[in-house]
Amino acid sequence: MEPSTSCPAAAPLVKRPFHVLVGVTGSVAALKLPLLVSRLLDIPGLEVAVVTTERAKHFYSPQDIPVTLYSDADEWEMWKCRSDPVLHIDLRRWADLMLVAPLDANTLGKVASGICDNLLTCVIRAWDCRKPLLFCPAMNTVMWEHPITAQQVGQLKAFGYVEIPCVAKKLVCGDQGLGAMAEVGTIVDKVKEVLFWHGDSQES
Ligand SMILES: Cc1cc2nc3c(=O)[nH]c(=O)nc-3n(C[C@H](O)[C@H](O)[C@H](O)COP(=O)(O)O)c2cc1C
Repeated sequence: MEPSTSCPAAAPLVKRPFHVLVGVTGSVAALKLPLLVSRLLDIPGLEVAVVTTERAKHFYSPQDIPVTLYSDADEWEMWKCRSDPVLHIDLRRWADLMLVAPLDANTLGKVASGICDNLLTCVIRAWDCRKPLLFCPAMNTVMWEHPITAQQVGQLKAFGYVEIPCVAKKLVCGDQGLGAMAEVGTIVDKVKEVLFWHGDSQES
C-alpha cells in the first residue's frame, strides 16, 4: 500500500528559515555591514535581507553584500498600480526580526518621532511591535552625550525595541569616548539570544 500523502497528521512539520531584516543607516559603522551580514549568515536557519538608506550606501559596496539589498528606489519602482506590492509592508510581513545596525543620530531622531520619509523608516513605522526590533546606535561622542539622544533612545525602548548599547573607543573622526557601534560579535550574540526565545514559532 502506498503511503498516504493527504493526511495532514502524517505531514512533517516544516520549519522555515527565520527572517532577519537588517536596516543600515549613514554612520561610518556601516563599513561593517559586509561582516555583519556574513556573520549572521553563519547562523543556521537564518535568511537575511538588507534595507539601506541612501547615505549608508556611501560606506559599503553592494557587491560585498551577498543577500537582497533594498533601497528607496525599489519601493517606488515596484509600485505602479493597485495590485502591486507595497515594499515596506511586504518587508514588515517577511521579517521575523529587525536589526538596525548602525542606527545613526538622524534616523534615531526620525524613528523616535514617527517620521517615515524613506524605505527604512517606513518599515520601522509599520513595524508590528510584537516582533523583536534591535537597534545599535552609532554616532560621535558629543552627539551621543547631547541630552536629546537619551530621550530618543528611551523612546525607542518604550516602544519595546531592544538597545544594543554603543561602546567607547577612539572613533574614526578622532574623538575618544562612547558612540561607537557595538562589536559585530556582540550584535550577533544578541540576535542568537532573541532567536533562542522566538525560534520555535516559525513552523509553517
Ligand atoms: C564620513 C561620515 C561619517 C558619518 N558618521 C556618522 C555616524 O557615525 N553617526 C551619525 O549619527 N551620523 C554620521 N554621519 C552623518 C549622517 O551620515 C547624516 O546625518 C545623514 O543625513 C544620515 O542619513 P540617514 O539617517 O538617512 O542614513 C556621518 C557623515 C559622514 C559624511
